[in-house]
Amino acid sequence: MKMKIKISRCDPMGKGGCEPYLQGYDIEAKEGMTILDALHFIKDEQDGTLSFRRSCRSAICGSCAVNLNGFPKLACKTQLISEYKKKGAIVIEPLSNYQVIKDMVVDFNPFWDKINKVEPWLNQKDNLPVPLGTDLKSVPKKGGAVGLSGEKKWQTLDKKAVLKINNSSKCIMCGCCNAACNTLEIDKHFIAPAALAKAWRFVGDERESQSQKRLAKLSREHGMWDCVRCIHCTEYCPKDVAPLQAIERLRAEAIKEGVIDNDGARHVESMVDSVKRVGRLDEAAMTFKTLGFLRSLGMIPFGLKMEIHGKMPMPLIFPQIEKIEEVRKIYEEIEKKKRQVEVKVEE
Ligand code: SF4
Ligand code: SF4
Ligand code: FES
Repeated sequence: MKMKIKISRCDPMGKGGCEPYLQGYDIEAKEGMTILDALHFIKDEQDGTLSFRRSCRSAICGSCAVNLNGFPKLACKTQLISEYKKKGAIVIEPLSNYQVIKDMVVDFNPFWDKINKVEPWLNQKDNLPVPLGTDLKSVPKKGGAVGLSGEKKWQTLDKKAVLKINNSSKCIMCGCCNAACNTLEIDKHFIAPAALAKAWRFVGDERESQSQKRLAKLSREHGMWDCVRCIHCTEYCPKDVAPLQAIERLRAEAIKEGVIDNDGARHVESMVDSVKRVGRLDEAAMTFKTLGFLRSLGMIPFGLKMEIHGKMPMPLIFPQIEKIEEVRKIYEEIEKKKRQVEVKVEE
């Protein structure tokens, strides 16, 4: 099958600097060919100057991620002909939200900096109840691994505990989620989904001793509460890591652990209060509860604009919904269920 593939080109050594443009290549697509095969074919047969990353060709190493027809994908995992039939075109570009170095090669340093910020290693608790799973007596040797000291031994987890963090452990660091992230697009300091998924890998690990400290750090500005829940990270992750689920778990854990002295947690609590009180979101009251009185004053011009455009009901005459008692009944039921669970745990 003959087709034209358009590829974004950008050469920092070229005359125009790295100003990307699309270059077309005609190829004969064969059944079973992946996007990566097509890139290799073009580089080998038509244009040796084309640059892209790859290694395993098996969706394991994470290095071949590109934007394909506008969405982040692994080039080695995507079939050329079926993509062409689905979209009617093949346009290959570098991942969004990354600085381009050349063609499809992007600067991954900010990605790794974010991963490093969440300290991706286990700080095993002292005196763990034995056994969580099996005590691997042979490891570690004295001081043999980060987070271990003395004669402390690695503990393994039982199946239930593993399942809690299993998704996050499957990350291959391809960066597709960060490329699709709406918050990262407007805030380059946002910790971003890949690092948050990695953070849950350790916060959710029953052996971890620093969870509360980690959660407090993740609750700062540019942290987990800045995610706007667009679900893109989960939608475009090629390994089903589901970073948004990890973010939701981190947030729930933070509230459970009492890490609530921050705007994100206050916002969630004010939302819950608002629905309980009036049956819907009272944006003005929520702003005051989230930001406090003085910081809320700075939001007044923004609030007035929302008011003018009908985006925010008048705070002082904000009516509660009809049948509010039914909403409150739901809250009562939730409280009842929570108490039952607590009693069961105590037993
Ligand atoms: S759900 Fe949150 S972290 Fe994931 S892509 Fe959207 S804004 Fe980014
Ligand atoms: S979470 Fe998924 S999309 Fe993000 S880096 Fe890991 S494997 Fe890639
Ligand atoms: S080449 Fe390794 S994931 Fe594609």
